[in-house]
Amino acid sequence: MLNLILFGAPGCGKGTQSLFLAEHYSLDHVSTGELLREEVRKETEFGEKVEALISKGHLVSDEIILELLFEHLEEIDEFTGVILDGFPRTVGQAEALFREFKERGWVAPILVNIEVDEDILVSRLLERGKVSGRTDDNEETIRNRFKIYNSATQPVIDYYAQHGDLITVNGQAEIKEVTQRIIDAVDAFVKNR
Ligand code: AP5
Ligand code: MG
Repeated sequence: MLNLILFGAPGCGKGTQSLFLAEHYSLDHVSTGELLREEVRKETEFGEKVEALISKGHLVSDEIILELLFEHLEEIDEFTGVILDGFPRTVGQAEALFREFKERGWVAPILVNIEVDEDILVSRLLERGKVSGRTDDNEETIRNRFKIYNSATQPVIDYYAQHGDLITVNGQAEIKEVTQRIIDAVDAFVKNR
């Protein structure tokens, strides 16, 4: 069983690459950002609270995200492997991930860290903001998303390097080239595991 995490700063290509990799490896793609945006679209009280956080670039609490994610994973008919996109985002989430996967007898995911310079990412997100309709694709929120990524999310890399399997890929290339880089790195890693 192969499980992957696509990890990296806002706009690094987690969602874009997940689609290609899910097809290539026949994995389910689960984006916690998408799960949250789905809740927002339901226009419930909970959705409103989520929207208030997302639109400012704040993280949703570990407790809520874990419940939402594992409820969703449990619903997958036959669990044959998954790409997690946007999770884990805190060391607390990474700890819970190892615990919960072990409990269910699932293989711990390989974390693929996609690295791209911040100035390139900001221009990608501002460009996407013109058409995406995402309330977090504006200059002020983008700045905050990076601040939170650097303070709360980046420490996951060190944690994962100590406790799990980590691959770093340079994400500064055309989309197809980045996909190939990830596939090459994952295949090489799995072969030598
Ligand atoms: P989330 O939806 O995960 O957003 P994000 O991490 O900020 O990342 P994005 O989705 O903006 O970018 P991406 O890396 O997927 O890149 P993409 O492929 O779209 O989270 C949103 C919010 O939800 C968070 O801020 C938080 O509030 C909350 N949240 C989510 N998960 C949470 C968790 N676990 N805990 C707590 N809170 C959570 O690409 C971006 C753009 O660049 C696109 O236009 C794309 O076409 C383009 N592009 C991609 N690759 C390339 C390339 N190689 N060259 C040129 N352009 C490219
Ligand atoms: Mg995304």
